Amino acid sequence: MKILMTGAGGQIGSDLITALVAQGHSIVATDLKPRPSTPEVAWRGLDVVDGAAVDRIIAEEAPEVVYHLAAILSATGEKNPALAYAVNQTGTWNVLEACRTRGVRQLMFCSSIAVYGPGLPDPTPDDVGLRPTTMYGVTKAAGEMLCEYYRAKRGLDCRGVRFPGLISASLPGGGSTDYALFMYVDGVRVGSYQAFARPDTRVPLMYMPDGVRGLLELAAAPADKLTRAIYNIAGFSPRADEIAASVGRAVPGVTITYQPDPLRQGILDSWPRALDDTCARADWGWAPRYTLDQMTVDLVPKIRELLSGGAKLTH
Ligand SMILES: NC(=O)c1ccc[n+]([C@@H]2O[C@H](COP(=O)([O-])OP(=O)(O)OC[C@H]3O[C@@H](n4cnc5c(N)ncnc54)[C@H](O)[C@@H]3O)[C@@H](O)[C@H]2O)c1
Repeated sequence: MKILMTGAGGQIGSDLITALVAQGHSIVATDLKPRPSTPEVAWRGLDVVDGAAVDRIIAEEAPEVVYHLAAILSATGEKNPALAYAVNQTGTWNVLEACRTRGVRQLMFCSSIAVYGPGLPDPTPDDVGLRPTTMYGVTKAAGEMLCEYYRAKRGLDCRGVRFPGLISASLPGGGSTDYALFMYVDGVRVGSYQAFARPDTRVPLMYMPDGVRGLLELAAAPADKLTRAIYNIAGFSPRADEIAASVGRAVPGVTITYQPDPLRQGILDSWPRALDDTCARADWGWAPRYTLDQMTVDLVPKIRELLSGGAKLTH
């Protein structure tokens, strides 16, 4: 199957491309960024804010499915809300319209726990009032609603997941949960890390292999089993100091300290502490495979390998 991906050069894109290629699909990867050294797939420059360019590339490539990943993430978006609005809101509209008018069969959307706001039930189900506190969350909530609308009214099979903070051995994109990854990276690299969150910070997290598998399983689910367009999917919900303890078991002697950053701590405090993913489990059989400690065991050697290859994972 021919699949076009936006924002393919980011944290999820690199792992998602590998998984889709392994399934035998033909991928057209697009991004503002130039082609990375790997993976070896067709690569085209695309700014999703440019509606004419989005339309042109989808007309030319005629993909059956589009994975729309391009976005400005939460912490970066709060520093530049206008850019976050342009990329996440206008960009998503451009992609939806091009998919609809050019006969794309399915659009896969990546939403986020940032659609929620303070005062949530714990665990947080799919259907509670959405009161996001960031421009990122506002645009993701609107993107979800647009997906529901296009699915119901415009004949486009839109589906998506609300991802928790995703952790993988790659460069994160300015999200508020990056402290978790940097405990591993700096733990391995220099033996210490000063986290920008309080030790009792607890937000939903997920290991990337589970996240990618969730997206692929939802894409493949029979349409008549789906009762909604967008689904919560949960992995695990450790406190920051529980992540530090898990890192410490794999990297003995590591020291994690805490210096909360008001911007990112404020965002983290407005998010769910844990997600209720009952709907995804019931409709398409979702279940995570990795616990925190299982992720740590798998991730630490991958981070060692990445760092030994000279990767610069900067804060
Ligand atoms: N990583 C997470 O923890 C997480 C959690 C929840 C949701 N998501 C969502 O998943 C998707 C992918 O996230 P990611 O972690 O890979 O993010 P990322 O920041 O690593 O990658 C996003 C990509 O979008 C590209 N991009 C930015 N502006 C663009 C534009 N105008 N046109 C085209 N491309 C542009 C960037 O160059 C980057 O390669 C996003 O929609 C994000 O909101 C991610």
